[in-house]
Amino acid sequence: MKRTFVTSALIAFCMMLFASCGGSAKNEEQFSLKDALADKFTIGTAFNEAQNFGIDTQGIEVTKQHFNSIVAENCMKAEKIQPKKGEFYFDETDKMIEFAEANNMEVIGHTLVWHSQLPKWFTVDDNGKEVDRDELITRLKDHIFAVAGRYKGKIKGWDVLNEALNDDGTLRNTPFLRIIGEEYIPMVFEFAQQADPNAELYYNDYSLSIPEKREGAVKLVQMLKEKGVKIDGVGMQGHLSLDFPSLENKEASIIAFANEGVDVMITELDLSVLKSPHKRLGAELTDTAEYSKEMNPYVEGLPQEISDQWNKRMKDFFELFIKHSDKITRVTAWGVADGDSWKNGWPIPGRTDYPLLFDRKHQPKQVVIDLINEYNNK
Ligand code: XIL
Repeated sequence: MKRTFVTSALIAFCMMLFASCGGSAKNEEQFSLKDALADKFTIGTAFNEAQNFGIDTQGIEVTKQHFNSIVAENCMKAEKIQPKKGEFYFDETDKMIEFAEANNMEVIGHTLVWHSQLPKWFTVDDNGKEVDRDELITRLKDHIFAVAGRYKGKIKGWDVLNEALNDDGTLRNTPFLRIIGEEYIPMVFEFAQQADPNAELYYNDYSLSIPEKREGAVKLVQMLKEKGVKIDGVGMQGHLSLDFPSLENKEASIIAFANEGVDVMITELDLSVLKSPHKRLGAELTDTAEYSKEMNPYVEGLPQEISDQWNKRMKDFFELFIKHSDKITRVTAWGVADGDSWKNGWPIPGRTDYPLLFDRKHQPKQVVIDLINEYNNK
């Protein structure tokens, strides 16, 4: 008979007590999300600085137990990894990869090309003048070769290009598009492939459930495939709120991308309980608003009713992902525990949000317990 997670937690607790009295808890059976969903997809989390450097020991323990895929929340972005031209800072990423290797986890690279968190130097010369086309291509190539080249063979897949689309599905007006033209897209995928031929290559974006944006991403995949450029997957950033997006639109996008012959990944999963100052919640970093008390109602804790609503909605999304586990290869949460989440600071700074799978005390939310109970050994 299957043991429930709650029973297991009790046993684990008793074993801990026993261990603290001189016994050994080494063989303690640990029920975990990654094991329960092992035949569906990998379960990832994003690691921040305190986790990469081994400081957040509680977050690290939760990660070892429940996750088998890891991605850097910030340290692999251009502004962090090459803050000045030709000056690289690899220490934090090296640590994260060491941790992943020691714990048998896959590593996802995030991200090679993104207009955001892009250091200023990338697109201007020493006099502050915008660089020309050839120079920007060289800089992109050098950056991709330096970063993807260093970690060659260690990265399961790269978010090669992040957020290149507007919500209406047109190409976003980034310096890359303006200076190089649309060809920058196949170019960066080709550079990534040359730098690490065996890594999977992904396009990653938010709000891909919006039908027009979905279409834009489908066209992007088709364009790469027509040119014979390798693309293995689309990462659908899962920045959810209690009313956006609909499950139907999410499902339609999962199916649409799979129909193009690429893997689908649910990336950056978090579910905010807070109101967005915008019409619909996306992940546009520049879309911020000022703090107000009314927009931050749950400082003292989450009312049971909202917590129940959150758990139900997160469970519904997981059920959708499980239904399409033949198409979805990975589901990655954007952080370990609620206190870690960027949603506490965006789009409004200084709020208290509850978006992740583990609470501020690193306890699993009901949805985690339910998924483990339901799918363990299934
Ligand atoms: C966020 C990080 O979580 C924050 O710590 C950082 O200050 C800003 O970026 N889309 C992405 C992620 O692809 O890299 C962003 O991460 C969230 C939106």
